[in-house]
Amino acid sequence: MKLITIIITVMLLAAAVHGQVDEGCVTSSCHADIGTKQFVHGPVGAKICTVCHVRKAGKDHEFEFYLEKEELCLACHETKRDMMLEDHLHTPVADGNCVGCHDPHQSDFRFTLKGQAADLCFQCHNREKFTDENIHGPVAEGDCNLCHNPHASPNENQLLDPPDKICYRCHAEKVEELQKRHVRPPVEEKCINCHNPHAGPEKAMLEEVMPELCFTCHGEIGVAEVPHPPVAQGRCEACHDSHSSDNPKLLMKPGTDLCFSCHTEMGQYVSEQSYLHGPVKQGDCNACHNPHGSDFSRILRKNFPKEFYMPYKTENYALCFECHNKTVALDPKTTKLTDFRDGDRNLHYLHVNKDPKGRSCRSCHQAHATDQPKHIRRSVPFGTMAWELPVNYTKLNDGGRCEVGCHAVKEYHR
Ligand code: HEC
Ligand code: HEC
Ligand code: HEC
Ligand code: HEC
Ligand code: HEC
Ligand code: HEC
Ligand code: HEC
Ligand code: HEC
Ligand code: HEC
Ligand code: HEC
Ligand code: HEC
Ligand code: HEC
Ligand code: HEC
Repeated sequence: MKLITIIITVMLLAAAVHGQVDEGCVTSSCHADIGTKQFVHGPVGAKICTVCHVRKAGKDHEFEFYLEKEELCLACHETKRDMMLEDHLHTPVADGNCVGCHDPHQSDFRFTLKGQAADLCFQCHNREKFTDENIHGPVAEGDCNLCHNPHASPNENQLLDPPDKICYRCHAEKVEELQKRHVRPPVEEKCINCHNPHAGPEKAMLEEVMPELCFTCHGEIGVAEVPHPPVAQGRCEACHDSHSSDNPKLLMKPGTDLCFSCHTEMGQYVSEQSYLHGPVKQGDCNACHNPHGSDFSRILRKNFPKEFYMPYKTENYALCFECHNKTVALDPKTTKLTDFRDGDRNLHYLHVNKDPKGRSCRSCHQAHATDQPKHIRRSVPFGTMAWELPVNYTKLNDGGRCEVGCHAVKEYHR
């Protein structure tokens, strides 16, 4: 109240100095509506019009302003002068167009604004940009001022905080995500690298549809002859956290847990076996599979035949030979290439290296896990009837015994 008294005193003084004492501009026939709305500007309420409108010399009813543009306002609102020194001024403020937003006389809204909340902003800004399918919470509420200062600020776009900080005003929980071991660099930099702060056609106001959003920085992923369905569907977020993770490659879960979260039956199977193949034991399904897709069957990284029988070629089994001796089936006679031999008769050669009926490794070995030593599988699907051909294997001190659906019980000794 004190301040008002002082200001009005100053106003009256100023008016007196100019010799422009109010002569009753508001009458029932002239400017009758001024001062009738809920919020009336201080000096207008005091009915001193001529503090702003100065009669032109020698003219009866022609006026000019006491001062122009923002100077008129700042003459009384001295404390607002500081904002004109900020680095980033809202264009109408920089232009001195205070009356673009504030009615100098009166209004139905607080601060004699010309509109309420976002409706004010939409008098100059295209409303459509803020009313896309997915609207950000505070924008939907019309609370533009929770992020923007309407006048000026030290930050671009008159943001209340720098663009890399503004989001944490409300999403404080996301600060925690930045503490995780792996943070995607654009997330660390600023959230608006991917999200529109106002509204967007995509979920979470993403700037681009998924997965194209990811491709803008990572190139196209998952284009392969044999695609992995979740990748082909563009569901990158099924495996990668969009922001950060304690697992390498921003994976949602570590090691085999990730794969078994969808391949549950297989997870169950593997957990029940006594022998896990080396890379599976190490949790590295990706040693053999490309999780995004590949040009080989079963999204394998290298060649490995689907067939039971096929003519032998070392390249056909390139997958296994990435890690194992590729000469294992090349020589009919050996005492060192393999333990799968009877004396010096190479039984790998015998079974595998045939034309046309060479047997694939998968006719005896299971690539993931089994309950028999040497990754010998219990059975193998055979023929078009999908008959499960039994493969029972016993490891002996100097060899092994095979009770299989292919031939009578046989033993080999080294
Ligand atoms: C705080 C300064 C200020 C005071 C006090 C003031 N005016 Fe104004 N008035 C303005 C400004 C600034 C404009 C120009 C508005 C614009 O350009 O949008 C204006 C415009 C006008 C106009 C022309 C445009 C319109 O709004 O129709 C009239 C008429 C007017 N004022 C009358 C009055 C009367 C009568 C009073 C006193 C009851 C008064 N003004 C008090 C600042 C003031
Ligand atoms: C002659 C002095 C004077 C001039 C010139 C003046 N004002 Fe005011 N203004 C006041 C007074 C007095 C108040 C009432 C103070 C209060 O309520 O704290 C006020 C109140 C306001 C308020 C509301 C503030 C609040 O906290 O509620 C706004 C907004 C405002 N003025 C904007 C303007 C704008 C924009 C201009 C220029 C067009 C302007 N004023 C010019 C004296 C002036
Ligand atoms: C883009 C619209 C816009 C423009 C242009 C604008 N204002 Fe404001 N002003 C606002 C809004 C919105 C508020 C209410 C802020 C709030 O809710 O805290 C406000 C509040 C105010 C207030 C009262 C509250 C305070 O912060 O002290 C004053 C005084 C004021 N403005 C003066 C000015 C002056 C002087 C200018 C020109 C230099 C100006 N405004 C230009 C939108 C605007
Ligand atoms: C009187 C007209 C007017 C109103 C009302 C208005 N703006 Fe603006 N605003 C502009 C103009 C002009 C620009 C310059 C850029 C442009 O042409 O879009 C601008 C630019 C901006 C910018 C970009 C930064 C800059 O300064 O170039 C932001 C952010 C902004 N306005 C926010 C708001 C918000 C929030 C509101 C509501 C509180 C609002 N504006 C109301 C006229 C207005
Ligand atoms: C959650 C915070 C937030 C809210 C709420 C918000 N903005 Fe913004 N706004 C931003 C950020 C951040 C930028 C900078 C975007 C960029 O640099 O890409 C921005 C930029 C702008 C711009 C300039 C760039 C452009 O997109 O044209 C305008 C204009 C603007 N905002 C107006 C508004 C209006 C109007 C509202 C209310 C309807 C609003 N903003 C609400 C955060 C917000
Ligand atoms: C003023 C508070 C506030 C600020 C600042 C803020 N947000 Fe929000 N944000 C919200 C609210 C409220 C929701 C809605 C929450 C809900 O629906 O559970 C939300 C939701 C979101 C969503 C989820 C939308 C969806 O469809 O699931 C995203 C993404 C988001 N904000 C991003 C941002 C970004 C990026 C920034 C910084 C530019 C930001 N927010 C700043 C309040 C804020
Ligand atoms: C590299 C792009 C990218 C960046 C940068 C980014 N996000 Fe996201 N954000 C996404 C994607 C993609 C989704 C949707 C994920 C989904 O559907 O599970 C999302 C979802 C969200 C959601 C809604 C779901 C949730 O996780 O709560 C919020 C809130 C969110 N982001 C906030 C932020 C904040 C805050 C930042 C800055 C720290 C940020 N985002 C930075 C890509 C990004
Ligand atoms: C604005 C650019 C940008 C966007 C958009 C983006 N990323 Fe990234 N991402 C990066 C950068 C930069 C790195 C760190 C690069 C590196 O270390 O090789 C990274 C790292 C990653 C990593 C870890 C790679 C590694 O070698 O550790 C994965 C996984 C990833 N992003 C997936 C995604 C997914 C999924 C999306 C879509 C939601 C996405 N990214 C969107 C820029 C982006
Ligand atoms: C089925 C789970 C899964 C899906 C879905 C998936 N990824 Fe991956 N992604 C992985 C795994 C696992 C790795 C780590 C591979 C490794 O360590 O060799 C990876 C690695 C990455 C990398 C690091 C570089 C590289 O190629 O090794 C990027 C970038 C990446 N993914 C982006 C994406 C994008 C973009 C999408 C969506 C189009 C996507 N991913 C979908 C599982 C997935
Ligand atoms: C989000 C769910 C999901 C996750 C996570 C997932 N997959 Fe898959 N995967 C599928 C679906 C769906 C199929 C197609 C149906 C099927 O064969 O079960 C598939 C098929 C496969 C196939 C057979 C491809 C073919 O052409 O027959 C392999 C191999 C595979 N996934 C390996 C992996 C590996 C390795 C991981 C872990 C890096 C993994 N998957 C994680 C959903 C998933
Ligand atoms: C040593 C290489 C290797 C590793 C490591 C590996 N796989 Fe495989 N995977 C294969 C081969 C070879 C096939 C094709 C099997 C066949 O044709 O009999 C296959 C087939 C699959 C299939 C297709 C369905 C099926 O049972 O034939 C899925 C799903 C699969 N793997 C998931 C995984 C998961 C999950 C992991 C990690 C726990 C994993 N693989 C680790 C080699 C591997
Ligand atoms: C990424 C490397 C890798 C690939 C590819 C791979 N393996 Fe292995 N394999 C291993 C490791 C590691 C062991 C464990 C070695 C050890 O314990 O001495 C192992 C063990 C074996 C064993 C048991 C050896 C023993 O002496 O107990 C057999 C049999 C086997 N692999 C067959 C295969 C077949 C068949 C393929 C192709 C489908 C294959 N592996 C592909 C890494 C691989
Ligand atoms: C007819 C069944 C059969 C076929 C087909 C077969 N293996 Fe074997 N393999 C065995 C047996 C049995 C052993 C165990 C030998 C021992 O330790 O007594 C073995 C052992 C191995 C070993 C352990 C090292 C060694 O040589 O003793 C590797 C590696 C291996 N096989 C890889 C392969 C690869 C790769 C293929 C396909 C090119 C293949 N196997 C095809 C039965 C087979």
